[in-house]
Amino acid sequence: VDHKPTYRIAFSQCVGSDAWRQTMLEEMKRELSFYPDVEFIYRDAENSSELQIQQLYELRGMHPDLIIISPNEAEPLTPVVDEIFRSGTPVIVTDRKTASGQYNAYVGADNYKIGYMAGQYLATQLGRRGTISEVTGLPGSSAAMERQRGLHDALRPHPGIRLLQQVNGQWLIDVAKAQVVQQVGKLAASDAIFAYNDQMAFGTYQALQQELPGNRIKIVGVDALPGDNNGLHFVAEKVLDASMLYPTGGKECIQTAMAILNRQPYQRENILGTLVVDSANVQLMKLQTDKIISQQRDIDKQQQLFAEQQKIFSNQQRVLNILVVS
Ligand code: FRU
Repeated sequence: VDHKPTYRIAFSQCVGSDAWRQTMLEEMKRELSFYPDVEFIYRDAENSSELQIQQLYELRGMHPDLIIISPNEAEPLTPVVDEIFRSGTPVIVTDRKTASGQYNAYVGADNYKIGYMAGQYLATQLGRRGTISEVTGLPGSSAAMERQRGLHDALRPHPGIRLLQQVNGQWLIDVAKAQVVQQVGKLAASDAIFAYNDQMAFGTYQALQQELPGNRIKIVGVDALPGDNNGLHFVAEKVLDASMLYPTGGKECIQTAMAILNRQPYQRENILGTLVVDSANVQLMKLQTDKIISQQRDIDKQQQLFAEQQKIFSNQQRVLNILVVS
């Protein structure tokens, strides 16, 4: 049976390949499975603002009913997103923002708060004296700018703490690792390093192990994603001292999208919770996320069974129709 989708939702993702964003997409798809009539169009800009602009124009040409976007860098993406917004297509911005703040809704954690919490955590850990270096994300992305502002504001009341060195890791593990190796001479005097995500934090750890074996530099990251080789695992293994939880918000994006499309009330700012994960609570976090993951698997399994049942049912219907007609 052909039926037209009730709604078409387009999602422009700035980069699709890392585990955090794959988790976001899985969450979206799980939530979308409750709306089988909704068509979902997905584009991955592979870390390129230029490609993302191009993809957004293509998506706009497909006349979706709503666009979700995680803008790679704020400034370059602002004109196209503003244009789409002004043309009347609802826009949900998630995780990163544009420079203008023109959108129907934002879904994501407060990145300023994340930077601030990291700063407070490090200040306490260092006994309010010492040196901190940064491994930053793409400097033009709003998440990097806000995390930095938060970090610096949190450290300002601590004259005993000095910001030492800034390394641009572009959000990527390989870039972070190579840059830390290259700048290790300057970084060596750091008491702690705040890497703006856990992947770069892990790259930093590997580089420091290699270049300064036996060093005692504390490393703090962001995301605290469950699963092997993600943040929670690194904190549990004491590879990282801490990670700031940064929920992906995939589910909340789709919930907000459906509320907007169905003309139900929704909030403009949907700020997801965050917290410091360190050795004190990492086991509890792991227990909880393991449980959530196993429940999510159950949902996926039930969805699959349901789809199979539906197929059998519609086949039976077809056979019945033929019998009745003939
Ligand atoms: C994933 C990521 C996360 C980070 C977020 C910031 O692509 O780098 O690790 O928290 O983007 O926008």
